[in-house]
Amino acid sequence: MRINSLRLQLLAWVVLPLAGLATINLWTSQRNALATADLVTDRMLVGSARAIAERVAMADGALDATIPPAAIEMFDTGDRDSVYYRVETAGGRLLTGYPDLPKAPQHENIGASYRGHPLRLLTLGHPVIGAGEDSPISVTVGVTLAGHDAMVKRLWLSAFAQQLALVAIAGVFVLLGLHRGLAPLIRLRDAVRSADRNELGAIEVSGAQSEIRPLIDALNAYRERVRAQMAAQRRFIANAAHQLRTPLALLSTQASYALRENAADQRREALVALQASSGRLARLAEQLLTLSRAEPGSRRPRADRIDLTEAALHVLETQMPAAINRKIDLGLDEDGPVPVIGDGTMLREMIVNLVDNAVRYSRAGGSVTVTLSAIDGEAILTVIDDGPGIPSDEREHVLERFYRIAGSAEEGSGLGLAIVREVAETAGGRVTLGDGAAGGLAVEVRLPLALP
Ligand SMILES: Nc1ncnc2c1ncn2[C@@H]1O[C@H](COP(=O)(O)OP(=O)(O)O)[C@@H](O)[C@H]1O
Ligand SMILES: [Mg+2]
Repeated sequence: MRINSLRLQLLAWVVLPLAGLATINLWTSQRNALATADLVTDRMLVGSARAIAERVAMADGALDATIPPAAIEMFDTGDRDSVYYRVETAGGRLLTGYPDLPKAPQHENIGASYRGHPLRLLTLGHPVIGAGEDSPISVTVGVTLAGHDAMVKRLWLSAFAQQLALVAIAGVFVLLGLHRGLAPLIRLRDAVRSADRNELGAIEVSGAQSEIRPLIDALNAYRERVRAQMAAQRRFIANAAHQLRTPLALLSTQASYALRENAADQRREALVALQASSGRLARLAEQLLTLSRAEPGSRRPRADRIDLTEAALHVLETQMPAAINRKIDLGLDEDGPVPVIGDGTMLREMIVNLVDNAVRYSRAGGSVTVTLSAIDGEAILTVIDDGPGIPSDEREHVLERFYRIAGSAEEGSGLGLAIVREVAETAGGRVTLGDGAAGGLAVEVRLPLALP
């Protein structure tokens, strides 16, 4: 059986051993009570026997044994004990008392049985002056055990009561201590329960012990993280909605324009513009989706073996028309496969965004070079253009979501580089922005190389 309550556990750990110890203690105290009662009874037997023996004297040439009442009355403790005695000469002649009372060995107290009752028995030798060979006389006194047993019981019961009280008091103190000790934990529970769901502020529990402090700190750190994450999510959704609203409004305007237009070629022109807008909108939605997929924990990360060179070749093919459009010399510089572990779709999307940026933001007629290499266990992908580049104070911002450099003539959402960073970090790598040799932007992505 498992006890889940801390109260019961501690109570069991304190009270059960204590009860065990008390039991052992009771056993010894019972033996002590018995020894004490034996000792007291034996002292009384000695006293009684001596009182009887001292009264035995020669009277008119014969031994006279008169029993002093005190010798018998000293056993009258209210427990209705019977006292038996026997006085006889050295030769064994009965002077007075019960002839069939057994004798105890000299100076030894024994337990005996007489007339069906257990007895405590003592025999004492006593010289009588002038008694000749009748001296020393022997006096035997026996007493039944009612008083003796009552004394054992009394002594033992008081010990028993004390032990019981001790265990009970210990139990009460354990419960009290626990109640006090657990109070901060209960307060913490209530604070966590009652705290406003959207608040997620730091929880403060007064009087928390040093064992509970780390728990509260960890909880607060966790709440802080959740709060930051929630805020980021809210920002993201607001931004995304904002980004979607503008092109949708444009789309709607273009549609109404096309509807109003009667001339066939002007209507066609409006429809072409509409098609371009909806294409950009689709691209934006796609980027939002990519970003949400690249986020940590958003889905089970795929761990395929991907050849970056092959992926880059594929991307370059799709970007070639745009490059030709701007008369840009788009080239790949590679020497063999560069294998990495990651999600193929995401990694391709990362390269798409880098090449797309380079083609669109660099100058027309320039050149864009994608380089792939594997050095020291790292896959290195660089995309270098000879355009205007990004000022160094903007470089840390352009990696943020929705951040665009003000005054850019090109269309965009500001999600491209954020996707690049998210994908690279998910694959265990990192992104750095630098200067290209010809003054443009050089983006370098380093990923762990897949083991052969
Ligand atoms: N190769 C580049 N050369 C110059 N500026 C760039 C380049 N790549 C990105 N940028 C700047 O960084 C900004 C952020 O890029 P990105 O995150 O891809 O968003 P978007 O392309 O949608 O604007 C761009 O608006 C652009 O101003
Ligand atoms: Mg971009």
